[in-house]
Amino acid sequence: MTDIDENALFNITLGLYVVGSYEKKTGREVGCIADAVMQVSANPMRIAVSLESNIYTTKCVKEVGELSLSVLPKNTSAELISEFGFKSSENTDKWNIAPFYKDGKLPLLKDCIAVITCKAVDEIDIGDHIIFVCEIKKAKMVKGCEPLTYAEYRKSMRKASSKEGLGKRWVCTVCCYEYDGDIPFEELPDDWKCPCCQMGKEYFQLQ
Ligand SMILES: Cc1cc2nc3c(=O)[nH]c(=O)nc-3n(C[C@H](O)[C@H](O)[C@H](O)COP(=O)(O)O)c2cc1C
Repeated sequence: MTDIDENALFNITLGLYVVGSYEKKTGREVGCIADAVMQVSANPMRIAVSLESNIYTTKCVKEVGELSLSVLPKNTSAELISEFGFKSSENTDKWNIAPFYKDGKLPLLKDCIAVITCKAVDEIDIGDHIIFVCEIKKAKMVKGCEPLTYAEYRKSMRKASSKEGLGKRWVCTVCCYEYDGDIPFEELPDDWKCPCCQMGKEYFQLQ
């Protein structure tokens, strides 16, 4: 038993963003989905972006010291989220999935609500994540529409996972992500984590 009800934490309102960066050696664009993004000061204007320590985007941001944010709209496709949020840039050219352009070397989505480019001025290692404190270089509105929230994303996933399933479905009890990998769920390593909310295998239930 625990005093922490994760549902309470899911009521912290968060948006969804594509974090962009690039490989130092080749300039190849990389990126991932992040919800852990917030403005943390006004003067100087800074935001904090919390990225998992072991993902490829983090490796690149650490090397090049800059990142971009594309603010995702409510009608963002599941395909885009799946590409940026469940694959690794180390072996995937994720930016091919959607029209993008570059500001310097930083990739930005053409179809999004707003774009922001940042210089990482500090890094705080908090264990499994690194918080990049970023100075805002440029921020521009692209189109005025409703942003996609993390809560909305979870709600849509929950709907999807309530469809009549075919055979066994392993579903994360924290974020409702449904495992759909090639390796049978039972054979995943013990330290495998939900790609969506990072909780361990023990949080999955067979439905
Ligand atoms: C809805 C959603 C929210 C996510 N939020 C974060 C986040 O805030 N920080 C983070 O590091 N990863 C987050 N992720 C996971 C990364 O996007 C994912 O691990 C990605 O595959 C990393 O790609 P990379 O190896 O190319 O960097 C999120 C994924 C999803 C689907």
